[in-house]
Amino acid sequence: MNTVKIVSHSEVETKALASKIVHLLKGGDVVLLEGDLGAGKTTFVGGALNSLGYKDHVVSPTFNILKCYFEVTPNVFHIDAYRLEDQNHDIGLEEFIEGNGISFIEWPIYIPELIPAKHLSICIKRISDNERDITISSESKDYDSLINSLKEN
Ligand SMILES: Nc1ncnc2c1ncn2[C@@H]1O[C@H](COP(=O)(O)OP(=O)(O)OP(=O)(O)O)[C@@H](O)[C@H]1O
Ligand SMILES: [Mg+2]
Repeated sequence: MNTVKIVSHSEVETKALASKIVHLLKGGDVVLLEGDLGAGKTTFVGGALNSLGYKDHVVSPTFNILKCYFEVTPNVFHIDAYRLEDQNHDIGLEEFIEGNGISFIEWPIYIPELIPAKHLSICIKRISDNERDITISSESKDYDSLINSLKEN
């Protein structure tokens, strides 16, 4: 497991980190976003999307479960599995997760059978109102260079 921990002092810093990371990703990559309610998972996805050129404010897809951003390249699929805790998971999400876009998945613990072995994990932990510990890790060697480049600064 390769891991790097970064402290964010503001929403702006979290979005800047997301921007840096998304430019090191490619279509087909799967990013799990872990952390409590209000940790900053959707904020992170918003930073990634805005840096790919999406101009609007990114809101949680909680009530939709999936939002597809076909207007950015690579396409981004934003999944929030929170509402799937007690539901049938067989709603076709794997078509997106296994597709050509970058998938960002909030609350992956609720859809464990849909998570591919190769993924990048981002765990956001609230330290204070504006501070977050952000741990980026992966068991896959494919993300070594991404994680190592985050260690450099
Ligand atoms: N350093 C920080 N990084 C990210 N968000 C921050 C930070 N400091 C404060 N915040 C605030 O924390 C909130 C994070 O909300 P967000 O919707 O991103 O959480 P979430 O993890 O997606 O929650 P949920 O599980 O409910 O979907 C926002 O209001 C954001 O402005
Ligand atoms: Mg959210």
